[in-house]
Amino acid sequence: MKIAVIPGDGIGPEVMEQALTVLDTLQTLDKTLEVETMTFHWDSVYYLQTGRMMPKDGLETLAQYDAILFGAIGDARVPDDVTVWELIMPIRKQFQQYVNFRPVKSLPGIASPLATKEPIDFVIFRENTEGEYSNSGGRLYGGTERELAIQNTVMTKEGIANIVSAACDYALKYKKSTVTSATKSNAVTHTMKFWDAIVQETMSRYPQLQLKSYYIDALVAYFVERPEEFEVVVASNLFGDILSDLGSAIIGGLGLSPSGNINPTRTYPSMFEPVHGSAPDIAGRGIANPIAQIWSLALLLGHVGRPDLEQLVVQAIEQVLAQSEVKTADIGGTATTQQMGEAICMALKGCYEMRGV
Ligand code: NAI
Ligand code: MG
Repeated sequence: MKIAVIPGDGIGPEVMEQALTVLDTLQTLDKTLEVETMTFHWDSVYYLQTGRMMPKDGLETLAQYDAILFGAIGDARVPDDVTVWELIMPIRKQFQQYVNFRPVKSLPGIASPLATKEPIDFVIFRENTEGEYSNSGGRLYGGTERELAIQNTVMTKEGIANIVSAACDYALKYKKSTVTSATKSNAVTHTMKFWDAIVQETMSRYPQLQLKSYYIDALVAYFVERPEEFEVVVASNLFGDILSDLGSAIIGGLGLSPSGNINPTRTYPSMFEPVHGSAPDIAGRGIANPIAQIWSLALLLGHVGRPDLEQLVVQAIEQVLAQSEVKTADIGGTATTQQMGEAICMALKGCYEMRGV
């Protein structure tokens, strides 16, 4: 198996180092896991040196890998829309990674900031290739009183049906009974009414599943008031982006949440990355939580055919958190990024030995 690694900026390389140590540990434990990694330093420093976020043939290079493990990108010296639109967006769009899969799950030893005592366990299926993040539009009459800006939302029948089918297939596979759709068709009357119609049409092929459709403003309130009710949430690009940071927050913070940018047809490699960004406010201090990155590696392993190793890594993370001794600052402890990574590797060894018993 060949994995392309892009550590990125800020805390990206710090948390990536720990994920790669976990991968090494797995390879020592399980001789059937043969992974070759190649690291690409396509980041803001590369941009400052070359004027590009990745080489001209960057996508062709990445296409040769089975999967991509991504850290985070973003640096004050480069405009954020450049880092996003010249690196992350081309990968997501060109590789048709139309599913952005974001689990939201309570973890042992981590207190939710919410008063709820019920465990939270749902997944967000965010449309990842079109919608509000289309980059179609422009400005007119620059520098005059008439200056204006237009940004178009692009919703296609195929794009909506694809993300809804993926959410429904997942719901059936994991024996869930409801799929919740995030909409705003009362105010956004063209694209969101279209979204509602295609959601309904697609879900009519899944009579076992119940559709719950909520306006986004109400839905964010329900995420806070009764998050335990949700099973599978399907949302457009922008709504899904916002919902998933909220999802991270209600289970205990951005340092914990992984994501997968998935090309379900497997024509192209899929890309796995934490939900969080490059966290410039804590970068360089060795205190970032590496769990989101390590869990992203786990999702990658599950995707490339090793669900057993995915489970093992998640089990090790849960064990470390449950024991409650090693925790980074964001979740109320004093451990460094490296200490957290080492604790997870230690737990992995224990979990691996127990597995055979
Ligand atoms: P952010 O996710 O980087 O940080 C938000 C807050 O969460 C900060 O207080 C940060 O310290 C904290 N945080 C994030 N990850 C953490 C971790 N692993 N451990 C402990 N604390 C953590 O979002 P922000 O500040 O809005 O953006 C910073 C930069 O990241 C910007 O340049 C933005 O464009 C970029 N970004 C990149 C993304 C990507 O690479 N896919 C996604 C989101 C933002
Ligand atoms: Mg985001």
